Amino acid sequence: MALVCETERLRLDQLTEGDAAFALQLLNEPSYIRNIGDKCVRTLEQARAYLVDGPMASYTRHGFGLNRVALKDSGAVVGMCGLLRRDGMQDVEIGYAFLPEFWSQGYAGEAVAGVLRTAVCQHGLQRVIAVVNPSNAESKRLLEKLGFVLAGDVVLPGETTAIHQFAKALSPVLRLSAEHVDAYRALMLQAYDQHPDAFTSSHAERAALPMAWWLARMGASGSNAHEMAFGAFHNGQLAGVAGLSLETRERVRHKATLFGMFVPQQHRQLGLGRQLVQAVLDYARSPVGVRQVVLTVTQGNTSAERLYAGCGFRVFGVEPDAVALGTGFVSKVHMWCPLEGEHTLQRP
Ligand SMILES: CC(C)(COP(=O)(O)OP(=O)(O)OC[C@H]1O[C@@H](n2cnc3c(N)ncnc32)[C@H](O)[C@@H]1OP(=O)(O)O)[C@@H](O)C(=O)NCCC(=O)NCCS
Repeated sequence: MALVCETERLRLDQLTEGDAAFALQLLNEPSYIRNIGDKCVRTLEQARAYLVDGPMASYTRHGFGLNRVALKDSGAVVGMCGLLRRDGMQDVEIGYAFLPEFWSQGYAGEAVAGVLRTAVCQHGLQRVIAVVNPSNAESKRLLEKLGFVLAGDVVLPGETTAIHQFAKALSPVLRLSAEHVDAYRALMLQAYDQHPDAFTSSHAERAALPMAWWLARMGASGSNAHEMAFGAFHNGQLAGVAGLSLETRERVRHKATLFGMFVPQQHRQLGLGRQLVQAVLDYARSPVGVRQVVLTVTQGNTSAERLYAGCGFRVFGVEPDAVALGTGFVSKVHMWCPLEGEHTLQRP
């Protein structure tokens, strides 16, 4: 079984011929035939052929396809969800179908969100569409909840009737999870190595730390994590990172710190740094309710200082000789960004 992604409650794997009985059941559900179409799969043999010629051929051809969706706790197979590239269509499409007994429990939204993450971080997609029968109100509601917008009507290749086409632009920035720990660690070690003056930690200090430390740093080792990392993806590759550390003590919970900002040379000046900072600020703003984000930047690091200033950070002081490098000391500029909105601190 090839794992595609995991979400809180679900595990998505590539389909195999062993899923023929499930495919036979799903493809003959009246709701499937009504909303998606009749694939005329009536026997186990036909279901096997559907899997081999459909999803499995797509994995080989495009690197993605419809996947099996199963509950993590019981292993029950509840539906299919994945990316499709139809001949004659420009955009990659997201497709999904679930057994009726598993509807209304948020599984479809969770599976689609998981697949959209893979669209960004594994396949480098910037936009995904979904096609929906206009009478399928549940599916339209789900897509709108997930940020898809109606982009018009389309007649699919080989069909005669027009159906709705929804589209969603995908942000290249995602909150990182355990699956990214190796790439995150590698990128941060590259940052410490190439820019010793930009970071307080040294390459040697961080290279010696165990994987558990990196997982905690990314917020991937527990549900009440107070540190987390965000990654910008370019062509399916981790191309930049930034971290956010939340305060845990009651009196300073309105503050958070942006740390570990790095975009490797080959991905610079593409706007990824700015999108990372914006994603960190958006996360801090809601639902966490942070009112100000602080950071430090080495005095003279013009590109970083300009990046932060452009994102709303203001200087509130300079700490002289803050960090000792082999060659001398560097000063740290302290910046803060008040977050607008209903949480903005009311000053007396
Ligand atoms: C600072 C850094 C993260 C910028 O990343 P990036 O992806 O190139 O940034 P963006 O393309 O989003 O640029 C956003 C803004 O940053 C500033 N900026 C980026 N590169 C710059 C450069 N070479 N010179 C001056 N300003 C620059 C500009 O204000 C730019 O906005 P503009 O394009 O409208 O002028 C990247 O250069 C880096 O990783 N540097 C080394 C590590 C580091 O210094 N980290 C910060 C530690 S505090």
